[in-house]
Amino acid sequence: MHLINFKELSGSQLMEIVDKAIDVKRNPEKYCNALDGKSLAMIFQKTSTRTRVSFEVAMTQLGGHALYIDWRTTNFTIADVYDETQYLSRNVDCIMARLLRNADLQVMVRASRVPVINGCDEKYHPSQAIGDLMTMKEKRGKLKGLKLVYIGVHNNICNSLIEGCTKTGVKIITVTPIFHEPCRDDELLENARKTGLWETTLDVKEAVKDADFVYTDTWVDMEFFTDPKFAAEKEKRVKLMMPYQINKELLKGSNAYIMHDMPIHRGYEIAEDVIEDPNSVIYEQSENRLYSAKAILLKLLGKC
Ligand code: CP
Repeated sequence: MHLINFKELSGSQLMEIVDKAIDVKRNPEKYCNALDGKSLAMIFQKTSTRTRVSFEVAMTQLGGHALYIDWRTTNFTIADVYDETQYLSRNVDCIMARLLRNADLQVMVRASRVPVINGCDEKYHPSQAIGDLMTMKEKRGKLKGLKLVYIGVHNNICNSLIEGCTKTGVKIITVTPIFHEPCRDDELLENARKTGLWETTLDVKEAVKDADFVYTDTWVDMEFFTDPKFAAEKEKRVKLMMPYQINKELLKGSNAYIMHDMPIHRGYEIAEDVIEDPNSVIYEQSENRLYSAKAILLKLLGKC
């Protein structure tokens, strides 16, 4: 079993991982030897703070070991992804990869003898979405019947939230004036639409009414944020997206918890003074990446 997106997981399997993450957080001692002797290879083509740290610490705290591999220092740069993955998967028990292209991740899946976890590509960010569902369940005590509003660019985390929410009974409204084409997955959106739990609108004020959670993410992908070649596109996006910033005015009268998957670009997708608002769960949400990483590893390595 791999974790590339949620297509191969039923709603109840996804809920099992979320519940396991909550149990792991409450009872860490129960799991401290669960992955004794196991190794995780973590390979990164892009920058990361949370995904790298959470999976590495998760492996250590579960009794296993993680190797951080910077793609640029390996022979993945000069050889077939298939061949290099064949080799890698003969040395470790699991691979977590943050790659630029989902197509390369699919090659990894074909080549690997061990489970492959998508650490975020241009289409999906499933490990983040599992941590988010965990945070939502912790805060409201359930998932079914909740309402999450995602405001931002339709991107990889937006896809994973749509998939994760609609599979677990959460209503999700997306307010996405820009659709980032590289993340397009029409099948995912069609499946979500059929559940009746996903809607999209540009009426941001109406959308946040009665929301349990209001969620945002960067308007510009991490690899482009400081890239001078992307400066014109960044400027265009900022202008178009500014009316959709999460700020006190938008949240007036709302009791919604505020979520952001981080890294945050203060003053862009979220106003400075909202980040540590009493209703903000952003830092807790980021902490939950650790427990959800543990739950994902336990599931994929057959320990639950
Ligand atoms: N949210 C998230 O994936 O954070 P990193 O990019 O720092 O891993």
